[in-house]
Amino acid sequence: MTEPSSSTLIVTIDGPAGSGKSTVARQVARQLGLYFLDTGAMYRGVAAAVLEAGMDPADHDAVAEFAADLDLRFGNEDPPHLTVNGVDLTHRLRDADVTRAVSDIAANACVRRMLVRAQRLIGQDKGRLVTEGRDQGSVVFCEAQVKLYLDAAPPIRARRRALQLREAGKPADETKILQQILYRDERDRTRADGPLVCPENATCIDTSDMTLDQVIEAVIAHVRAEGERSA
Ligand code: DC
Repeated sequence: MTEPSSSTLIVTIDGPAGSGKSTVARQVARQLGLYFLDTGAMYRGVAAAVLEAGMDPADHDAVAEFAADLDLRFGNEDPPHLTVNGVDLTHRLRDADVTRAVSDIAANACVRRMLVRAQRLIGQDKGRLVTEGRDQGSVVFCEAQVKLYLDAAPPIRARRRALQLREAGKPADETKILQQILYRDERDRTRADGPLVCPENATCIDTSDMTLDQVIEAVIAHVRAEGERSA
């Protein structure tokens, strides 16, 4: 078995909502012994804190000022808990109101700047990680050794998200989820700052007809092949 040989290894996995990147990234990180960074959870954490504070997520300036003072931390458990100013908000991250609010938060250039900086610091600190989001290969870690982009047809992504929510004991209306996914796709792809794109030099995998295990296998094979190439 050949693992990538350099001492630092950054694997970026970008893609739209419900493309399976979180689950894939977490599993790949586990199997290759790399740190896992869920950057969507950081945007969701800010959204949850904004809502808990009773603020309007669309109030750009107030959110920017509020976010500048937030202390976001991932714990060491697996999967890690996200605390914001010492309060554990993990249980809120997938709630419907947070999911609705997060597009405004992700379109806020000040919040993005702050989280991009935080993600680069985590990258420097951990050295070897799988990081997933919308802009990891295109903006945050442009020089990453391995860049992947996962995609799938919108109805398939909606079905996967609904299953995930039901497994977590939460209600899930697939039609509504599809509408939310299409809305978030549009906002993620068209925002001025860090829009969702397939990064330059990234390998794009359409996972529509693949099982989760097949995607994980394909990603691991890709990481190993890159390791052999650079060895
Ligand atoms: O992957 P997710 O659904 O948890 O992401 C939540 C939101 O955060 C989604 O609207 C996209 C945004 N996001 C982003 O803009 N950049 C990232 N690196 C990660 C997520």
